[in-house]
Amino acid sequence: MDNIYKILIVDDSIDDVELILLELRRAGINVLWKHIDNEADMRALLAKDTWDIVLSDHSMPRFSSSEALTLLKEYNCYTPFVIVSGKIGEEYAVEAMKSGCYDYVMKDKLTKLPPVVIKAVEESRSRVARKVAETQLRESEHWMLTTLKSIGDAVITADRSGRVKFMNPVAEILIGCNLAETVGKPIDSIFNVIREKTGSKIENPIIKVIVEGSTIKSIGDSLLLSKNGTIPIDYNSSPIRNDEGAVLGAVLVFRDITDRRNAEIAIKGSLFELTESISRTIEFRDPYTAGHQKRAAMLARQVGEKLRLGEDKINELYIGGLLHDIGKISIPLDILSKPTKLTNLEFEFIKEHPKTGYEIIKDAKLPWNIRDIVLHHHEKLDGSGYPSGLTSEKIGLEVRIIAVCDVVEAMSTFRPYRPARSKDDVLKELLGGKGIKYDSTVVDIVAELINSNNFNPWDNRYHS
Ligand SMILES: [Fe+2]
Repeated sequence: MDNIYKILIVDDSIDDVELILLELRRAGINVLWKHIDNEADMRALLAKDTWDIVLSDHSMPRFSSSEALTLLKEYNCYTPFVIVSGKIGEEYAVEAMKSGCYDYVMKDKLTKLPPVVIKAVEESRSRVARKVAETQLRESEHWMLTTLKSIGDAVITADRSGRVKFMNPVAEILIGCNLAETVGKPIDSIFNVIREKTGSKIENPIIKVIVEGSTIKSIGDSLLLSKNGTIPIDYNSSPIRNDEGAVLGAVLVFRDITDRRNAEIAIKGSLFELTESISRTIEFRDPYTAGHQKRAAMLARQVGEKLRLGEDKINELYIGGLLHDIGKISIPLDILSKPTKLTNLEFEFIKEHPKTGYEIIKDAKLPWNIRDIVLHHHEKLDGSGYPSGLTSEKIGLEVRIIAVCDVVEAMSTFRPYRPARSKDDVLKELLGGKGIKYDSTVVDIVAELINSNNFNPWDNRYHS
């Protein structure tokens, strides 16, 4: 419909209307038109439809151009109004233009009408299109702003120089200052994060994104330093680009994870307590090895700390230590507590406990890989262990640690068939098997813990 002009002609002379249409068509303008000569008819047509242009005679028996213009403004301020008259005075024409009339053309110079109509309609259509685009943009901004203000995450945007442009209410609360006092300030002055474990400063994510031009995410141990104290947060930040791809600034989205962190701590605490209970339950049957798993777990944790394995891996060693002998639940008590040397058949029976333990826990959804520890804790680097005779390259570090801690703890405590071995005996076994049966690094750490009395099962207080 863009190449068809909908024209409302206000004129009392049908002959003049025909002349106007003839001139427009001669100029190649496709016309849809209606003709009226009074206020009531014009009002009816304006109410029913929209028009690209109104062409109005100046003076008619029942209507005038000024009345027609006033009426048009009631309905649509964008539709151009052109007076086409045979007798309009220049003075009146100027007044009409001041009132909003687009132009005027004398009837004896109708060849001037088509270019005026084309120009008026095109300008009007551009104005309407611009208005529609502006309205859509305003609405879109309103939607966006309402969304940003309503979401539960904190949002901050900054320009290319890292100065704050916007902050939503959640960000205001977490940062501890409001948008009005923050706009235009460097992002560094309001948003600072440090590593929870080390306290070291983390490069400001917005600055990093602006410099590097790519999205970044926090890695899970970030603390926000705000006026309200330190708050554990997760965050991600992305560049904001224009149509050409140039970075205009960045958006930072972050959230307070205090509740989630507390819930995780509570769940892990419960898991620890549950695992300790299971470990004690197993050892209730076997009082001679009571506490073995717990002590092996604590030693493994010390080794993990010496190796700086990180909190999660150290927890894995501790839980693995607590459960490594869970398969002994299937061994008859008279074999476990037999005061004399085991027969070959009895020993073969005992050697089944890693596999039994594995079967017990293999389907448990634990946040650590405990299965390998339970199944392989009697494996030796040279392949002389059981149940699979694995060699060094197939035995993971956690298993190697538990394997050494298991041997050391078992040797250093009383058994029904033998007294506790001395510190020298334990060190001799360890150092003799170093790099052959046992991991060299782990042996060195455990030997050092023994020699420095940081692991001392030969002190009675150790067992209390
Ligand atoms: Fe075992």
